[in-house]
Amino acid sequence: MQGKETNKNPGMEHPLEIRLTRLHEEELPQILAIERESHLEPWSGESFLEELGHSFSQILVAQVREPDDGRKARQAREGSVQAPRGNLSFRMAGYICFWCVADEIQILNVTVDKKWRRRGIARRLLHHVLELARESSAQSIVLELRKSNLPARMLYENLGFQVVGERPDYYGVIREPAILMEMRIGGKGPF
Ligand SMILES: CC(C)(COP(=O)(O)OP(=O)(O)OC[C@H]1O[C@@H](n2cnc3c(N)ncnc32)[C@H](O)[C@@H]1OP(=O)(O)O)[C@@H](O)C(=O)NCCC(=O)NCCS
Repeated sequence: MQGKETNKNPGMEHPLEIRLTRLHEEELPQILAIERESHLEPWSGESFLEELGHSFSQILVAQVREPDDGRKARQAREGSVQAPRGNLSFRMAGYICFWCVADEIQILNVTVDKKWRRRGIARRLLHHVLELARESSAQSIVLELRKSNLPARMLYENLGFQVVGERPDYYGVIREPAILMEMRIGGKGPF
């Protein structure tokens, strides 16, 4: 699986090139760095490896490149400019882990590196899962999130998910309720 798309966020001056691929084991250290920086209770390396071992589980990563990066790399190769420092190829920016079980898709983890947030990466990952859901004739996509996680709630609501329940005291270290959200496939979400 691989998909490439240029995202034009009206708020951003430069569109971002986003590439989606399946997670490879050697990319785990990059994923873990983003995970640890983003979550109160981050998944461990073992958790990701366990998911890679399940046939019903998928982890997709989003890698990004500013359009300018490609131009600079080409110029450096052609010798018209000095080779720039740093890596100008695609950089790891986020990931999504989900299960396809029976006629339901369950999203377990969506995370975007802090420095790439509000550039449409999570939206792109979720659009991809919705396309898969439609192709696989899944009936619904479900997920859970901390009640206080307003960015995530805004993200899901704006994509057409609806709150369908609440579990009190669901999360461990910092105790707080979980919100359950669902999107019925074939409904009228703005996807
Ligand atoms: C939630 C998260 C995945 C969003 O990723 P992102 O790539 O920044 O999201 P996008 O840029 O695709 O945003 C899409 C839409 O979601 C909403 N949104 C995202 N972040 C938001 C924020 N901080 N405040 C308000 N709305 C937000 C907006 O409607 C946004 O559209 P807009 O930018 O055109 O207004 C990211 O903040 C993150 O990794 N948080 C930590 C991990 C986490 O909480 N994951 C979810 C667990 S359930």
